[in-house]
Amino acid sequence: MQVIIPIASGKGGVGKTVFTANLGIALASLGKTVILVDLDLGSSNLHTCLGVKNRHAGIGSFIYKKAESLESLLVDTGIPRLFLIPGDALLPGTANLPYFRKLKIMKELEQLTADFVLLDLGAGSSYNVVDFFLMSSSGLIVTSPETTAILSSYSFLKTAVFRLLFRTFPSKSEERNFISEFMTERLEGSGNDFSDLLAGMEDFSQEAAEKCRRQLGKLYPRIVLNMGASNQDLLLGSKLRSITTRNVGIKMEYIGFLKREEGISRSIIERRPFYQNHPDSQFGRAMTLIAKKLISTPIPEAPALFEENEDIRQLGEAF
Ligand SMILES: Nc1ncnc2c1ncn2[C@@H]1O[C@H](COP(=O)(O)OP(=O)(O)O)[C@@H](O)[C@H]1O
Ligand SMILES: [Mg+2]
Repeated sequence: MQVIIPIASGKGGVGKTVFTANLGIALASLGKTVILVDLDLGSSNLHTCLGVKNRHAGIGSFIYKKAESLESLLVDTGIPRLFLIPGDALLPGTANLPYFRKLKIMKELEQLTADFVLLDLGAGSSYNVVDFFLMSSSGLIVTSPETTAILSSYSFLKTAVFRLLFRTFPSKSEERNFISEFMTERLEGSGNDFSDLLAGMEDFSQEAAEKCRRQLGKLYPRIVLNMGASNQDLLLGSKLRSITTRNVGIKMEYIGFLKREEGISRSIIERRPFYQNHPDSQFGRAMTLIAKKLISTPIPEAPALFEENEDIRQLGEAF
């Protein structure tokens, strides 16, 4: 069965796409069949990082119903066992994904035949991004050492956990209303954290609180720190992990530390992913280690969630 690995970041420019492309090559080099999916709609550039020409139909075609299936969009990258489903390079402006299309994409992703399906998600915490992230119990968060990037990663994780709990209960349920109200008050500055939410839930319904705890126990995101400038930066990933565990109540794994590698920007210009020529560089070896960890750790089933069509309302409000 294929393993879907969503790759997210709170902030853009942290190297998420470079990471996805190079991780794909590392996994393929270890004998795995890999499909990379560019879900950063509106600013797709995974093809560039892979050195694939921008002349193929992509997810944009699927969204506009020009392509029947995601599988029909598969592009051979020229690297053995590595395939790409491009973004919307030929059809720009699909950043707003209609809800039913999103569901359809998720169903199709689950049907793809490969050992690994890596999703390069858009930056930020919009529900479009977070819902793809929650397709797995163990999505990856890429961050750089910058404080703003670390803080955005933390916000992303909080939003993901809130969305997880929200989608644990059906639409219009009392539990869901309770969670919404809690979050609204919290956003207004009450300063409460998730343990307060669970305590409040407990007063409200023991059973619901228990269900939330079980769901939180199933989430196990993994952090990658990219563009580390010094060994000191290594500690930042651990800090993010411990703060999230303390305040948000989920366990996380710190799966990789990649240093800044000057050859990377040149490799993009030359359209030849860095890992391909330099698997034995420091960056290459760190990437191989991440790939091996992903191969050797079975990923538990994602938490069961209710479908959520709140995006429709959000879209409606935008007009
Ligand atoms: N480990 C690294 N060392 C040096 N430069 C990097 C590294 N990772 C990414 N970059 C550079 O950072 C820039 C942004 O990377 P990109 O993958 O497009 O970010 P994102 O997808 O997060 O927006 C690129 O120009 C790339 O060359
Ligand atoms: Mg990107």
